[in-house]
Amino acid sequence: MAAGKGTRLKSKHPKVLHEVGGKPLLAHVIAAAIQVVPPPDVYAIIGHEADRVRQAVQHSGVNFVLQEEQRGTGHALMVARDALAPYDHVIVLSGDAPLITPQTIERLRDFHLEKKAAMTLLSAELSDPTGYGRVIRRNQKGDEVKAIVEEKSASAAQKKLREINSGFYAFAIKPFYARIGELRTDNAHREYYLTDMAGVLTKAKSKVVATKTGHPSEIFGSNTRAEMVEIDGLIRAAKCHQLMSAGATIFYPQTCVIDADVEVGADTVIEPFVQLLGRTRIGSDCRIRSYSVINNSDVGDGVTIRPGSILDDARVGRGAIVGPYSHLRPGSDIGEGAHVGNFVETKKIKLGKGSKANHLTYLGDAEIGAGVNVGAGTITCNYDGVHKHKTEIGDGVFVGSDSTLVAPVKIGKGAYIGAASCITEDVPDDALALGRARQTMKEGWAKSKREALAAKKGSS
Ligand code: UD1
Ligand code: CA
Repeated sequence: MAAGKGTRLKSKHPKVLHEVGGKPLLAHVIAAAIQVVPPPDVYAIIGHEADRVRQAVQHSGVNFVLQEEQRGTGHALMVARDALAPYDHVIVLSGDAPLITPQTIERLRDFHLEKKAAMTLLSAELSDPTGYGRVIRRNQKGDEVKAIVEEKSASAAQKKLREINSGFYAFAIKPFYARIGELRTDNAHREYYLTDMAGVLTKAKSKVVATKTGHPSEIFGSNTRAEMVEIDGLIRAAKCHQLMSAGATIFYPQTCVIDADVEVGADTVIEPFVQLLGRTRIGSDCRIRSYSVINNSDVGDGVTIRPGSILDDARVGRGAIVGPYSHLRPGSDIGEGAHVGNFVETKKIKLGKGSKANHLTYLGDAEIGAGVNVGAGTITCNYDGVHKHKTEIGDGVFVGSDSTLVAPVKIGKGAYIGAASCITEDVPDDALALGRARQTMKEGWAKSKREALAAKKGSS
């Protein structure tokens, strides 16, 4: 179920697209579901901002049911009737409860089939059950459930019950759809509550049972911003633990933001306040220093990322050193053992093996060979205001400081570029190129200037 608006978030975006652990809520739920049943047998019930929700998750291969008007969780299942007709049973998950695991879904399914129930709900014992529906058991012992009471309709005594309805269910299709028409909207929200099916089916003498999960945190729903942030923290803490048990060290993990799909090799050390996002992969024996933000990037073994570096869709070869304060923008490909240093910005470049660009430089749309030294303040002038042009620098080139390389331009291998040159023409292999005004000297000029100034001061 993913059609709701999420009123309590006070957001213009649909609730299930809000992100925790770097992925939309719904993407987490789908990821768990498709490990239990094949994607085409998973149906996402969408409604509010349906197109956006569909677009965000359709790559998973699941199917969709459109609930145009959202009249409650019971109504969501009414709308899914035709889609579910070919099946014997359905497992219902909440699109806003992203911590659910495939194992727990399987346990719910197995319990449901074993008990031959018409409805099975997953329940949990929470120390603070506020906000959740409460499970009213038929008696102390046994699995059978009489009803589910929503918080808003619960009596004071019922509110004290700590066994809550997780919002995850299994239903036998036939008895469920035979009775779904009996749902009413005479409640606080004027909605069809799926939870009322417990009472409806019990009254019809169908079997309704509950199985209590041993992992209550898995069922946390995110109705509010505060709940969402709490869930995000749980996901990230779990991710850090997983990486550490695989051999990475993460200092002050509570300060690091590491997305669910990130990979980190053994013996890599991650310092405090680091963000590793998207599909980032970090090799082994690396050191990722504080305040670096690395997104969708591939970092080889033995790399040092010094403090404050930003990598976005970049690749860094083994043993390279990046930073402090480097900005590797999309398409940056830094070769093995290369150095990219302070305040260097790169975009769509290949920097060859062992090459260095250590200070205050912009390298964009460039192909740079191996063993090249790019002096401080070098700029590739890649943009003429309309088009981008390429700079090619051969192996072993030495680019003096403060050079501007006006693309398109090629510098042959082994060439030297004198400092402060403006290079507008191709440079042959092994040549020296100087593109700057010749220095002129006026001997004694400063001294006579000072003397003239002093004389003026004395006379006034
Ligand atoms: C629901 C349960 C409550 C349970 C809790 C667990 C009901 C009436 N109550 O409450 O007993 O303790 O989940 O988290 O079901 N949705 C639709 N279509 C709609 C309405 C909602 O698809 O018309 C979707 C929402 O997008 C959401 C899910 O169903 O993903 C649950 O809806 P929500 O409004 O969050 O229910 P809760 O109030 O949390
Ligand atoms: Ca909810």
